[in-house]
Amino acid sequence: MTPVTKRFGILTSGGDCPGLNAAIRGVCRAAYDKYGMVGVGFADGYRGLINGDYRVLKREDFWGILTRGGTILGSSREKPFKNIGSDYDIVDEKVSAIKENYHELKLDCLVVLGGNGAHSTAYKLAQEGLNVVGLPKTIDNDVQGTERCFGFHSALSIATEAIDRLHTTAQSHNRAMVIELMGHKAGWLALYAGVAGGGDVVLIPEIPYDIKTIGDHLKKRLQEGKGFSIVVVAEGAMSCKEAAMDKKARKRQRENVSIGYRVAGEIKCETNIETRTTVLGYVQRGGVPSASDRALATSLGVAAADLLAYGKYNRMVCLSNDRVTSVDLSVPAGKTRTVPRNHYMIDAALAVGACLGR
Ligand code: F6P
Repeated sequence: MTPVTKRFGILTSGGDCPGLNAAIRGVCRAAYDKYGMVGVGFADGYRGLINGDYRVLKREDFWGILTRGGTILGSSREKPFKNIGSDYDIVDEKVSAIKENYHELKLDCLVVLGGNGAHSTAYKLAQEGLNVVGLPKTIDNDVQGTERCFGFHSALSIATEAIDRLHTTAQSHNRAMVIELMGHKAGWLALYAGVAGGGDVVLIPEIPYDIKTIGDHLKKRLQEGKGFSIVVVAEGAMSCKEAAMDKKARKRQRENVSIGYRVAGEIKCETNIETRTTVLGYVQRGGVPSASDRALATSLGVAAADLLAYGKYNRMVCLSNDRVTSVDLSVPAGKTRTVPRNHYMIDAALAVGACLGR
């Protein structure tokens, strides 16, 4: 068939994750080999599109990158539509530069690999008249419209292995070991890793915690002769008191010490149990993608190439009922997919005796 798209731009935006290069490879190998298209790679997310920092991709650019972590294109958190102060001219300049580069390079469509923020920008660019296709990426797994984002499974494996290792040192010292995982607005990673790693307490942003409930749970474990505990905390988890604050006050309150250390201190005060904290941080975003993420990223990439070929623009490829399909860009734009209270993984955590803080 003669594809509707001849030339496409491609960029990776937001926090990097394992699987990005697998997805780039999926898009490009299908687009080049199945449809004879040409790709233009932009450096460092939307910043490269604004500044015209690009290179026309050759086949060797996306050979041998299936297992490579990070992104060969680079990434940034550039948000072209975000006003800096009251200076609205900057937004106009950035958006004009994007349109100019898009048309000067004779692009038929822009492929965006990113999370919530990236898809919000993608949707706004579509409203400005560009053709855009999105792929859902983030270790947080919180992009609305897809059951899974690539990056999540790799981070889940990394976090679970870390939790496994904490069990032995916690038991050796009769401590409550707190591990802080990524997940600012949604607790998918902490919840799944908490269940997979046998966490005794799992705290996620969606369920504000009461330290007394946690203390009672840990003291009960002590009475049952379990001298150690594993406490898994999402970086966005918050106490009931914090949940009642307005956003700005909560941000100020959380500025100086990360939640993992805060929860450890509260546990010590509440129970006098010795605690230690591990903040796993960017290790969760690094290294080789898991097999599952490589397969998901490749299948989403190929599906994106098909959307390009048939001119089905302004959509995000997604996983739905274990099928690769697509949704309108308005679905992920500006939204966060949080853990619903009735999710089966919450039921599973409770059923095996984990405390979720309430
Ligand atoms: O978006 C994924 C994520 O890893 C979040 O879990 C984390 O809070 C954030 O990125 C860190 O952002 P940055 O890489 O800009 O420090």
